[in-house]
Amino acid sequence: MGLLTGKTALITGAARGIGKAIALKFAEEGANIAFTDLVIDENGKATEAEIAAKGVKAKGFASNAADFAQTEEVVKQVKEEFGSIDILVNNAGITKDGLMLRMTEQQWDAVIAVNLKSAFNFIHACVPLMMRQRGGSIINMASVVGVHGNAGQANYAASKAGMIALAKSVGQEMGPKGIRANAIAPGFIDTAMTQALPEDIRKEWIGKIPLRRGGNVEDIANTAVYLASDMSSYVSGQVIQVDGGMNM
Ligand code: NAI
Repeated sequence: MGLLTGKTALITGAARGIGKAIALKFAEEGANIAFTDLVIDENGKATEAEIAAKGVKAKGFASNAADFAQTEEVVKQVKEEFGSIDILVNNAGITKDGLMLRMTEQQWDAVIAVNLKSAFNFIHACVPLMMRQRGGSIINMASVVGVHGNAGQANYAASKAGMIALAKSVGQEMGPKGIRANAIAPGFIDTAMTQALPEDIRKEWIGKIPLRRGGNVEDIANTAVYLASDMSSYVSGQVIQVDGGMNM
């Protein structure tokens, strides 16, 4: 029996990267997986097949997580097709970096909408069902920069700080209904997002990490399994930094 056998997880932005790694690890632990991404193209279909190959039910849904109405519709479909939603991982995220003086309104609005409003949309849509089920685990994907700030990422850092406060607030409101909410704050993780950085910047970041390596997506997925499962049944409102010791 896996740690998540019999549970259904809904993971946003999971066609690739950290979200996909979480989906695969949850599936290995026996969870059925519904995931979203902007489009479910060949890559999304391949992710769906990889998850299903673990012997669980898997389906990808095309939706823009920043869109309230689309989110309500997707959650309704997941409810109908999967029966329950026990775990919600708000993972979809983007960066549009720039120094404050040069940051445009569009850069600000897009990052807040995709990284933060999306989590409101999904929590708002899932919580009534979780309340009826008398339980659930919500995991918000934050970032170490949401705890410490980062020059050149005011929009992104603010959105991730918002994800932390959102998890704590929902944890307080929903605790009496058996719903836990926590945040994961990854440090420097090797994905498309960080591979796009210039080599000197990558080196500089890694030099600041006591474990002297970037994290891999499995490092984040393992923490997500802990927060999703009953292993953490008395843990709510926490932020777990998974960053190789970068910020102590
Ligand atoms: P990624 O760019 O590889 O994957 C993000 C996924 O989200 C993509 O599949 C993308 O299509 C999807 N997505 C983007 N906008 C969307 C929208 N509006 N609706 C639905 N899906 C959407 O990124 P990665 O690295 O896997 O990041 C996942 C999460 O982890 C993000 O929230 C990111 O901010 C966070 N994170 C990543 C770190 C890193 O070092 N890679 C560090 C700290 C946090």
